[in-house]
Formats: sequence, structure tokens, C-alpha cells
Amino acid sequence: MDYAHFDTSGGERQTPTAKFNRPHISKELQSLRESAFERSIPTADDETLNFIITQLRAVKPKNILELGTATGISAIAMLNTCPDAHLTTVEKNETFFEEAKRNFKCFDADMRVNAILGDAGEVIDMLKGTYDFIFMDCAKVQYIKYLPKLKKLLAHGGVLLADDILLFGWITGEAEIPPKRKMLAKHVEEYVHAVTNDSELSTTILNIGDGLALSVKL
Ligand SMILES: C[S@@+](CC[C@H](N)C(=O)[O-])C[C@H]1O[C@@H](n2cnc3c(N)ncnc32)[C@H](O)[C@@H]1O
Repeated sequence: MDYAHFDTSGGERQTPTAKFNRPHISKELQSLRESAFERSIPTADDETLNFIITQLRAVKPKNILELGTATGISAIAMLNTCPDAHLTTVEKNETFFEEAKRNFKCFDADMRVNAILGDAGEVIDMLKGTYDFIFMDCAKVQYIKYLPKLKKLLAHGGVLLADDILLFGWITGEAEIPPKRKMLAKHVEEYVHAVTNDSELSTTILNIGDGLALSVKL
């Protein structure tokens, strides 16, 4: 579709509603985001972050899991939104992980974060207990593989939010899938099919940012 283009600031696909959906966050966090965009560090675009914040206000989670910390921006936004929550976040890139830890300290969030350096697929096998909000924002090709374990980690009534599931319009058929990305698109399509046909989940696919799958565990 014509509106699917890249925004050079955040590198994300823009939707017609993006201009209305700006997150209300502190000046300090906004300035960290701007510096991340300038340095090409991946972080949620405005519309996605705004949606996460709005969801969190409704769900009021106590225990959040994030897969894909990068430098900790979405994690800090989530903790700022939920002052009573504890967050576990997983990142496999050591440079990002170290920067995230510094950011957590700067934003006084470090006491409420369990930051884990590792591969999300291995880490989720070791996690115990349940989470009432899971934000999956890492290797999209692995989402389908992580789903059974994440369903076990998700509390009843909890929300599993998977980012970037429309893949620049490839998944909806709005844009042609480049030959080299066919395998990635196939795995993401499998994820979308799985969550929208799972009798234990209630799922909505949202045209927000580069696409979100919002699943609630029944
Ligand atoms: C889109 S970024 C996360 C952005 C962050 N959630 C935010 O909005 O500020 C995705 C991150 O996932 C990490 N990642 C990719 N595959 C991973 C894996 N298998 N395990 C852990 N982290 C992974 C990448 O290194 C990258 O930092």
C-alpha cells in the first residue's frame, strides 16, 4: 500500500494513524530514544511504544517479560508506566546489554529489572513462574518456536504482544517478499496463523508500527 514507507528517524513502517499515536514519556526518555534513532539502535517507534503504554495502563502487570532489550528503552518505558512491576528482559548482544544496564541505573530502574545476557530461546527454557505481560521483540524468525514456551510462561488473562509481525507488508500481501526473506516471512506467517487459530488464546493483529499480534491467554 502507498502508506507503507520507511520513516528515516525510526526506520519503521508508518501507518496513517501514526501521527496521532505519540507516547507520553519523560523528556529524559525521549532524548534517549532520539539518540538511539540517530545511532541506528533499534527501538520501538512512537506508535508501537504508545500502544504498549496504553495496554500496560489497562493490564497493570506486576511481572513483565521482554525478549529483545536492545539498550533498554522499551523496558524503561514499561517500568515507568508500571511503578509496581518487576521486569525480566533478555538480550543476546553484549554491547547493547551493557548499555542497557547503564541506562537502567541512570533511570533508577535497575532495582526492578532482571537483565539477562543470552539467547532468548535458551533463557525462556530456564524461566520459572508466570508473567502477566510479555513483549516479544527479538528474532522474528524464532517467534513460532518460542510460542509454546511463552504460552506456559503467560498467566491466565495475561497479554503476549509480538512486534513486527507484518514485516513491511509482506505478511498481508501488500508488498512482495524479497526472495532472500521468504523463509523469515514463512516463519512469521506461521506465528500469525498459530496465534490467530489457538483455542487457548484470543488474538488481534494490529496495523500499528510494523504490525503487532496481541494475544490474551484464556
Ligand atoms: C528491535 S530490538 C529491541 C528493541 C527494544 N525492545 C526497544 O524497543 O527499545 C531487538 C533486539 O533483540 C535482540 N535479539 C535478537 N535475537 C535475539 C535472541 N535470539 N535472543 C535475545 N536477544 C535477541 C537484538 O540484539 C536486538 O537488540
